[in-house]
Amino acid sequence: MANALLEQIEQIKQAALTDFNGAADPAALDQLRVKFLGSHGQFTALMKQLGSLSKEEKPAAGKAINTAKTDLEAALANRRSDLELKSALPKEPTDFTLPGRRRVLGKLHPLTQVTEDIVRSFRKIGFVVADGPEIEGEYHCFDALNTPADHPARDTQDTFYLKAPEAATVDASQRETRSLLRTHTSSVQIRVMEKQQPPVRIIVPGRVYRRDNADATHNPTFHQVEGLYVDRNVTVGDLKGTVEFVFKELMGSETKIRFRPHYFSYTEPSFEIDFSSALTRKMGKEWLEIAGCGMVHPQVFENVGYDPEVWTGWAFGFGIERIAMIRYGINDIRLFYENDFRFLKQF
Ligand code: DAH
Repeated sequence: MANALLEQIEQIKQAALTDFNGAADPAALDQLRVKFLGSHGQFTALMKQLGSLSKEEKPAAGKAINTAKTDLEAALANRRSDLELKSALPKEPTDFTLPGRRRVLGKLHPLTQVTEDIVRSFRKIGFVVADGPEIEGEYHCFDALNTPADHPARDTQDTFYLKAPEAATVDASQRETRSLLRTHTSSVQIRVMEKQQPPVRIIVPGRVYRRDNADATHNPTFHQVEGLYVDRNVTVGDLKGTVEFVFKELMGSETKIRFRPHYFSYTEPSFEIDFSSALTRKMGKEWLEIAGCGMVHPQVFENVGYDPEVWTGWAFGFGIERIAMIRYGINDIRLFYENDFRFLKQF
């Protein structure tokens, strides 16, 4: 009796294993699970026969049934995961030698490229990059640069003022009255000279803000580079030689520059710089105005605690967008800020 049962167990187990392996998909497999292991399944029916065995025969037969059932459940689970994996694979044969999809490589923004070129040129002649806050105090932006509140030059840079709380964070000297978004990078001249003694040889690339309406040549935020050189016996000749070197690097070796007298409150004498090159001629002009500069005003030295009888220096400032526009023949400044990939990928 017991031997007959053991044989049956083995037979049904083998039949089930063969069927499981032959199942074509998870649904077919599930039907087989019901057929063998479900509550009315063939294997379940075997368990019911246990009752008719004698006391002595029962333990061995019970154990055989349990082992076979565990084996079947394991086989079922294995086959199920095989079938699921198979159904997740592509139906069509896959050619794994095809090239993959490539991500488009990013690039530096044209303004960043031009800024890096400018910085590279100045580094060749010993300048280092300095930095300062974009939220600036009125004192550093204007007063220390010899531009007091009633000075007409301040109107042209009337700007974005911030409410009082930020002012407290700007300067411990108590000289700041209001905070504003800096209108030029010239404020960093003051910041650097307050912190260090001469000689000073810095350039300051950075973002500036003006209350201008956006049009083809204006934007409320743009970028400038400031330069400052302070030492003993510095002359306009040094200024001119430096500017000429850098503009030749930036705009081509046949570039010429000229100085025209101008007015800035923080330099005396002051000049505007024009340059001439193939690029200006392409734009139909012999000379294009490109920068402001001059010899540092003695009052500025006084304001930062340098002795104007000992120290001399020059400073300049120019717009980075303007350089980039001339260099690449861009006729609308707003293109720089629109993040239009069709524009940006050309540089
Ligand atoms: N700060 C001036 C501007 O924003 C540019 C400038 C002119 C900077 C003369 C200078 C300078 O350092 O000496 O237009």
